[in-house]
Amino acid sequence: VTVWLVGAGPGDPGLITAKGLELVRACEALVYDVLVAPELVAEAPEDALLIPREKLKQTEIDALLVELGSRGLDVVRLKGGDPFVFGRGGEEAHALAEAGVPFEVVPGVSALSAVPASAGIPVTHRGVSAQVTLVSGHSASGEALDYEHLARTPGTLVVFMGLSHLPEIVAGLVAAGQDAETPAAVVSNGTRPDGQSVTGTLGEIATLVDGLISPALLVVGDVVGVAAELATVAADAQALLA
Ligand SMILES: C[S@@+](CC[C@H](N)C(=O)[O-])C[C@H]1O[C@@H](n2cnc3c(N)ncnc32)[C@H](O)[C@@H]1O
Repeated sequence: VTVWLVGAGPGDPGLITAKGLELVRACEALVYDVLVAPELVAEAPEDALLIPREKLKQTEIDALLVELGSRGLDVVRLKGGDPFVFGRGGEEAHALAEAGVPFEVVPGVSALSAVPASAGIPVTHRGVSAQVTLVSGHSASGEALDYEHLARTPGTLVVFMGLSHLPEIVAGLVAAGQDAETPAAVVSNGTRPDGQSVTGTLGEIATLVDGLISPALLVVGDVVGVAAELATVAADAQALLA
């Protein structure tokens, strides 16, 4: 293998996999995303070629990986979360496969479950939600989300890249019949020290996010209420133990 598509995890540098970290520590070239923790970039060997993805278009990244891989270098392409969850890892894999450059995917901890968990929200919970739908709130082609379908889908809805379109997403879901009282949360910078979250109803959530910054995830569904329950149970247990 010459090119490794490695998931860096959702933000906390401790959430990269052991295999991913080992590869970063041994690589000759590291091509990394802006969302990747700087502590992980610092793990690359001193003489490794360090290339931030910033400002490069996806097609340029694809070509760069093919170029570095064709030179036979040990290349790590370090991507936020999991490379194959809204990470365009599939496109990079495709470009490498087409060019005959050997590659392997090293999965990462996706924001999908790790970010809600950092705010105490389990994306599935027995008796509450047995289904998770993940969507991108910012589609490259500008297509609108299928609100009619989403509003009718039971379980938990997780919206990636939705912060800047929040009012429009909420309005779309409610207009399509989703109950405006459905619990909702926005978690910003989850798993990082500066992480923040707000919870409320779907109807009001867009009014509560002032000051929250990207990256952020929207979670809609009754699992959001489980976080408060867990906090109450934990507080009661602490009080009993005190
Ligand atoms: C391009 S997608 C990459 C997702 C990534 N491949 C994964 O598996 O987590 C970037 C989006 O993921 C979400 N995200 C990633 N890291 C996050 C974090 N630490 N806190 C909140 N949302 C995060 C945000 O919605 C952000 O806009």
